[in-house]
Amino acid sequence: MKVVTGRTFPRGLGHDFAGVVEAVGPGVSRLVVGDEVLGEASIKASGAFAEMVLAEEKGVVKKPSNLSYEEAAALPTVGLTAFQAMAKKGKLQSGQVVFIHGCLGGVGRSAVQIALARGASVGGSCRATAAQDAHDLGIDPIVEFDFDPTVLSRRFDLVLDTADTLPIDAAKKMLKPGGRIISIHPTPANIARSALPGPCSVLIARPVTGDLEEVARAAGRGTLRVPIVRTVPLTEAIAALTEHERNGTPKGGKLIITTE
Ligand SMILES: NC(=O)c1ccc[n+]([C@@H]2O[C@H](COP(=O)([O-])OP(=O)(O)OC[C@H]3O[C@@H](n4cnc5c(N)ncnc54)[C@H](OP(=O)(O)O)[C@@H]3O)[C@@H](O)[C@H]2O)c1
Repeated sequence: MKVVTGRTFPRGLGHDFAGVVEAVGPGVSRLVVGDEVLGEASIKASGAFAEMVLAEEKGVVKKPSNLSYEEAAALPTVGLTAFQAMAKKGKLQSGQVVFIHGCLGGVGRSAVQIALARGASVGGSCRATAAQDAHDLGIDPIVEFDFDPTVLSRRFDLVLDTADTLPIDAAKKMLKPGGRIISIHPTPANIARSALPGPCSVLIARPVTGDLEEVARAAGRGTLRVPIVRTVPLTEAIAALTEHERNGTPKGGKLIITTE
């Protein structure tokens, strides 16, 4: 991440946010002071774990009125990444079949819901202890992370690896002819693979206003929901983030930091 975030400290942290527009700069045309919005700060600037954040207009959209700020703040990065993986890079069509490796993480769970809403059917991997959650989401078949790919041979139009732990040969085995494999980990190996002819590509999600609007609309309609597992005030943010750095990201949903 050093390459894209800039390398100097101190720096603000936090990417996703929801709140009210306090001021707009020259050239801003879609948003006005007082708008309720959700969005993401640029990776370089960051700084969303704060009472005020500066963001570019392209990464900010109106918040559906039926979403709380907490629900809205859980959406931007994972929703945008999942949308761009399924709809843009994956060009997922109704009737197609997708496999999501790590189907209950932030990106995975969002991708599942976006794919189902587009009329695709979805298989995925998760821990055995979370299989009921995956089943309730509409995933079938459900396998564990270290599944044997031969049982899923040539079944999928699209494979999304959210964890970078699916061996490439396994992913290829699972594809129907003409199928695609998408990684969201821009490692040198994945970038090299995506530059070569073949089924592999790597996605680095970008703040595209229309895509973020689709994500917000889906959440407003209730077809996309990112669960929240913990909410802490800003004064406890460092302790909560330190805990997650030690123990891993929270299972089953997002940590939300509130400023009130
Ligand atoms: N390219 C981009 O633009 C982009 C955008 C967003 C995120 N990302 C990256 O994508 C990754 C996922 O992000 P996220 O927000 O979805 O993270 P997350 O919410 O922490 O989800 C990670 C998921 O991976 C699962 N997992 C753990 N070990 C696994 C294994 N061995 N095989 C398969 N899955 C496994 C986790 O399951 P358990 O909870 O059961 O452990 C969890 O469901 C992160 O590395 C993030 O940096 C990339």
